[in-house]
Amino acid sequence: MIYADYNATTPLSEGARKGMAQAMELWGNPSSSHKSGRKSLELINNSRESVAALVGVSPNDVVFTSGGSEANTLALMGTALAVGEGFRLLTSQVEHSSIKDTLPVIEKLGGTIKYLPVNPEGQISLLELEQILESFKPHLVSLMTANNETGVIFPIPKILSLCEKHGSVLHTDAVQGLGKLNPSFYQSAHLVSISAHKIYGPKGAGALLVKKGIKLVSTHYGGSQEIKRRGGTENVIGIAGFGAAAREVLVSSPTQELQGARDHFEQLLARGLDGITIQGSKQPRIPNTSNIRFNDIASEVLLGALDLDGICVSAGSACSSGSISPSHVLLGMGFSEKEAKECVRFSWGKSSSLNTVEEVAQKVIAHVNRIRARNSLKESSK
Ligand SMILES: Cc1ncc(COP(=O)(O)O)c(C=O)c1O
Repeated sequence: MIYADYNATTPLSEGARKGMAQAMELWGNPSSSHKSGRKSLELINNSRESVAALVGVSPNDVVFTSGGSEANTLALMGTALAVGEGFRLLTSQVEHSSIKDTLPVIEKLGGTIKYLPVNPEGQISLLELEQILESFKPHLVSLMTANNETGVIFPIPKILSLCEKHGSVLHTDAVQGLGKLNPSFYQSAHLVSISAHKIYGPKGAGALLVKKGIKLVSTHYGGSQEIKRRGGTENVIGIAGFGAAAREVLVSSPTQELQGARDHFEQLLARGLDGITIQGSKQPRIPNTSNIRFNDIASEVLLGALDLDGICVSAGSACSSGSISPSHVLLGMGFSEKEAKECVRFSWGKSSSLNTVEEVAQKVIAHVNRIRARNSLKESSK
């Protein structure tokens, strides 16, 4: 099998597996004051320090959650509840579905939402951002660090300066930036969402980083865990795995090699095929992602053919695969439904060598030529 879907999830690292196995021996409730509980709490706090060190924030800023989706929901709902009536939110149309699907709830509570448009390359305009900040005066701006489908990076440091100038709080979904970008790029946002399973940690663990002084109302009640910011007995095993994965990323994160492999893959396809476009190729992108449109080929046909070869890729985000609806990200970039359904995402990771990407490129080129030949035969026999 060749795995090229690392933006959907990553395999569990050996370190994370060991960290979780150790945590399984500790069954005390971290809120208990006796020795058994204290041991579990110690483990959580070790992980808190490791995650904080990876991102470069204070351990007190780390609120463990069940993953990136919950962190995103907590950032949006927690701020909306803290502001109350008249809450104004500015976001984009290419955010992860955990942001997109929280928006109707905020509107139901009386909040107002505005969208900052993106261009066909998936990039925002800072000029437009400043104009909307001035006229709309949002309490919260939520713009992602790196897009999960295209890999396009938003200029978070510049966005932060504008938000601070206009008195808006900035939340960034950094789930796809963690481990792939220098954290200095997104760590200064007021609220930052991250997830363990994108950095070779377990699924079901993540965090919202909440900077000191940022007002947030908890959306989980009944316990004072995470300094009352997220009630409920902690997922000790998941958090232990997250901490171990974070320690490994801190030591080694071969982003240059990844970018080399990704670029090589794109060059091979561009040389070997006509009628392809690489989304966001003129924009800064995370080093592992290629979103490619193969004109006149339905992505599910190509995906099926690659799957039979043992190659795992996806059409858009994992959350939308399996459904036939086109990706809201690509629609937000101005693609027609047909165009959006012709895009395939290749996302590379630890196991992706130059040989791997060459093998995948070879297979993709062969399938695309075969499917196009079959399609034109069908057309001519009509
Ligand atoms: C950009 C982005 N945000 C949020 C999430 C959700 O994270 P989780 O799967 O941990 O809920 C994902 C996962 O695909 C993502 O890519």
